[in-house]
Amino acid sequence: MSIVILGKNGQVGSALQHSFVSTDVVALDRSQFDITSKLAVQQLFTQYSPQIIINATAYTAVDKAENEIDLANLVNREGVAMLADACAANKVLLVHYSTDYVFDGEKEGFYSELDLVNPQSVYGSSKWLGEEAVRASGCDYLIFRTSWVYSLTGNNFPKAIMKKLLQGQELRVVDDQFGAPTSADLIAAVTFKCVQKLRDDINLCGLYNLTAKGVVSWFGFAQQMIQVLQAEGQAQDWMGLIEAVSSNDYKSIAVRPKNSCLSLSKIEQKFGLEMPLWQKDVEIFMKEFKEQRDAT
Ligand SMILES: NC(=O)c1ccc[n+]([C@@H]2O[C@H](COP(=O)([O-])OP(=O)(O)OC[C@H]3O[C@@H](n4cnc5c(N)ncnc54)[C@H](OP(=O)(O)O)[C@@H]3O)[C@@H](O)[C@H]2O)c1
Repeated sequence: MSIVILGKNGQVGSALQHSFVSTDVVALDRSQFDITSKLAVQQLFTQYSPQIIINATAYTAVDKAENEIDLANLVNREGVAMLADACAANKVLLVHYSTDYVFDGEKEGFYSELDLVNPQSVYGSSKWLGEEAVRASGCDYLIFRTSWVYSLTGNNFPKAIMKKLLQGQELRVVDDQFGAPTSADLIAAVTFKCVQKLRDDINLCGLYNLTAKGVVSWFGFAQQMIQVLQAEGQAQDWMGLIEAVSSNDYKSIAVRPKNSCLSLSKIEQKFGLEMPLWQKDVEIFMKEFKEQRDAT
């Protein structure tokens, strides 16, 4: 089984390399494979003869995208379309990732895979168009919609919080956007399990929500991290460092959904999985973050 992972230096791309170890796997970074290059897409198939391609590349700079519309669409829509069309022509399974930002966040309750999308940002729209391109290509695919991704790689919310807290800096954190923090390790581990199952049953192809279980605001997320620090016996007044603010008081360039909660019923039922609560992976992340910091 020949598997190619694209975007190997990203959060999910890095984690995928730990989950897909025992198989015939090649992982490529942007210098080895640029998804916006037609030639690179063609060469991918002649050079590696893959049976499965896992696309972890993406333009993910949500605020910057509002001013880089063409680039966001080039990577997230046109590049994905070229890749998906080539997967269809070569009968290759495409695994692709999308986002909660395809929704406007106005729904009460969890979004299922059947809910209508209404992206409010350039990034969200470009990712939705990428999804549509995969579906239109006719290739066999798994699309995983995920949310609030973090890992030791890259820039993300819990890394920023850890850095600031450990430096004793005060923080303002949004308390009216809700979702499920999801570790890149979880995404990679679940991707591996789903790909294995799909080998026995190609009918499992399709769109799935893939996040950790549970719901929290960004502020609640930061509070949980503080509780973990306090449980370790650290005496500082961490809670005094964070202030809850509304989205209106914490202006960002791109609009973010207030409700990013994705229903996990489909992935759990179809693949026989039980997704873990988000708190579990956050604790692991914090432990690893401190180990990495102490080692440098
Ligand atoms: N991060 C989140 O909170 C979040 C939430 C929901 C969904 N998602 C989705 O989850 C997936 C993985 O996200 P992530 O957090 O792992 O993203 P990431 O850390 O930003 O990684 C994206 C990777 O794509 C690469 N890339 C960008 N443009 C490229 C191009 N033209 N050709 C080839 N590679 C290119 C980047 O290369 P460089 O390393 O060279 O920059 C980077 O390694 C994406 O589909 C994203 O939309 C993410």
